[in-house]
Amino acid sequence: MTPEDYAQGDAFQAEKRTIFSTWWLPVCAESQIGRCGEFMSATVGGWGVVAVRDGQGAIHVLRNACRHQNMPVVGAPSGHCETFRCRFHGWTYDLAGKFVSAPPAVAPADTQRAEVNLISLPIARSAGLLFFNLAGTMPPPDLGATPPDYGGTNVTDIACNWKVLVEHLLSAQPDRSPDFAWQWPLLTLRRAGAVVVVEQVMPHTFLRTRLLTHVFGGPAEEHRSSSNLIKQACEHLQADRIAGTMMPDDNALLADFNRRLGAAYAEAAATP
Ligand code: FES
Repeated sequence: MTPEDYAQGDAFQAEKRTIFSTWWLPVCAESQIGRCGEFMSATVGGWGVVAVRDGQGAIHVLRNACRHQNMPVVGAPSGHCETFRCRFHGWTYDLAGKFVSAPPAVAPADTQRAEVNLISLPIARSAGLLFFNLAGTMPPPDLGATPPDYGGTNVTDIACNWKVLVEHLLSAQPDRSPDFAWQWPLLTLRRAGAVVVVEQVMPHTFLRTRLLTHVFGGPAEEHRSSSNLIKQACEHLQADRIAGTMMPDDNALLADFNRRLGAAYAEAAATP
């Protein structure tokens, strides 16, 4: 990695093409959309998506891109609704993403075509989290046994590149601990007695990253100070990366992370 890889939009765009468009990405804890009509929207690795539980209890992850003129349909980060109505010209979709209606002046000629529905993505569930995949070719994530009861999620916005946060989460872990798991590219899981802490990394832009700390088996609030310490550490580490100080890959997890990044960058360089 070079300082530019941590500080420029070009690197992020390459990662969007070769990493975030290929691998399973976490979007939220399933319990965050526990009731019918609840939704969470997010931009993960540059991809806008909305996760929602429909009126029958089924979960969908939809591309947050209106089929009229490709604008975001959902503006709020979370909420509860019965339909999604695009605020730009009023195309309306049900909670499975199916086109429902539009004002006559902008209505599509054929409302039965699949192209008027929001794009529905493949989903997977593991460790209490919901994942989506844009390519549909990778095996789904498997983080082991079902965690205990959901205790909440802490949200922490960090002024750093997403790779800094992943490196920080991996650097503190002893190699091959049975109490720690990591799911390339954006998730770690740590067991501490009866509590399971899942750290979800959400890359918004090349310099803005959100950390979602999902806690199972205890209250999330007890982990708030730990999330704040991670924020402080990563914002210092971001300055180090820009100054040219890289993380030594002196444990197997970091070495694996760097190997996968190297492969993704090589693929991006080979693709016109
Ligand atoms: S962009 Fe959504 S209705 Fe026009």
